[in-house]
Amino acid sequence: MKLLVIGSGGREHAMAWKLAQSPRVQKVYVAPGNGGTATEAGLENLPLGDFSRLISFCREEQIQLTVVGPEAPLAAGIVDAFQEAGLRIFGPVRAAARLESSKDFAKQFMVRHGLPTARYETFSDATRARAYVDRQGAPIVVKADGLAAGKGVVVAASAAEAHAAIDTFLVQNRLGDAGARVVIEEYLEGEEASFMVMADGAHALALATSQDHKRLGDGDRGPNTGGMGAISPAPVVTPQLHARVMREIIQPALAGMAKDGTPYTGFLYAGLMIDKAGNPRTLEFNCRLGDPETQPILLRLKSDLVGLIEHALEGTLDRAEADWDRRAALCVVLAAANYPGEPRTGDEIHGLPGAAEDCRLFHAGTRLDGGRILTNGGRVLGVTALGDSLKLAARRAYEAADAIRFQGMQYRKDIGHRALKKG
Ligand code: AMP
Ligand code: GLY
Repeated sequence: MKLLVIGSGGREHAMAWKLAQSPRVQKVYVAPGNGGTATEAGLENLPLGDFSRLISFCREEQIQLTVVGPEAPLAAGIVDAFQEAGLRIFGPVRAAARLESSKDFAKQFMVRHGLPTARYETFSDATRARAYVDRQGAPIVVKADGLAAGKGVVVAASAAEAHAAIDTFLVQNRLGDAGARVVIEEYLEGEEASFMVMADGAHALALATSQDHKRLGDGDRGPNTGGMGAISPAPVVTPQLHARVMREIIQPALAGMAKDGTPYTGFLYAGLMIDKAGNPRTLEFNCRLGDPETQPILLRLKSDLVGLIEHALEGTLDRAEADWDRRAALCVVLAAANYPGEPRTGDEIHGLPGAAEDCRLFHAGTRLDGGRILTNGGRVLGVTALGDSLKLAARRAYEAADAIRFQGMQYRKDIGHRALKKG
């Protein structure tokens, strides 16, 4: 059968690559794709974004399943549009995707259904928001309500910093509608982990655990980014904690969505903060897989991803099982000069390694230009490797990363540092 993946990042390259491994799959189209999906065997890029043109393409080419990578098309209702056209697609409908597209919706939802999360209030008035910050004190977290591609969260160390964030969102309207309301929440301390599941409206199948590295610089310093590297599994998520997250967060979330009349089907990502005592709280929900967490997770997935998605679409995930490689996986993101600001693009990339069983290169911000691969975005490549230990996975990934060169390339040298310290 023929499939379609929507998106153009490292996550989508990994998803398309993994789907193409299925013996039942003939070809995977990626819309719009990147330099990696343009050159990978079994994949083909499709320069389309408009839903109605994608729907026509799926009808004409008899695409049997579409899988959506990023949040923007989900929030814009791509799943609703495909379903209305009678096409099979995996992801939440627009109303369910509000778990990510509105932080205020997500917080109200969590409180209504008793999920552990930080205390908060929502404001559209800057004076009231500032007064709340003054009453609560710093540190405190200011979040734009809507989708902001990673630019909507400010962890403010001082009240002045929180006031500045409120001004940016509510007064200067820097994010437009996405920043017309702000959620101001309690600062939580602890260690973060990414907890992802597949959901079929009622049941959840947990994927392998993972941990992202959000800050640009080594030692978790510098500005927040979309993610500079990831590992799987995340040792902070012990089997006991895993069971608690399923019981206290994932299952109540699915039950709550069903009860509210918007059953959730698709990948669901809970960003967790785990405090010193080992209690998990939900920082956010994403209605999609994480990027770059997907790259190490899918490198470890031994089961057929198409089969798992079919279980999710048929409502039988309670009968599905996912089989994971026992090895650890680690992904190092190679980013362009000036990322996470406006990145430098158009540079030729040299030293790209060939694929090996234990090391794969997933492209993100790249494009194919004649025979050359050029940089085309902030996060350019994700070198992802397996190893018998996390340390060996790191060694393998860095060996490959160190050989790649492009103008202004920057990457963290310490991906996995928290887990490695745990031994
Ligand atoms: P979010 O998009 O809501 O996950 O926020 C992005 C990042 O900001 C998270 O990955 C955390 O590192 C940080 N963050 C968000 N909310 C909080 C919070 N309540 N306390 C501390 N850090 C937070
Ligand atoms: N890596 C974090 C995210 O995908 O939201």
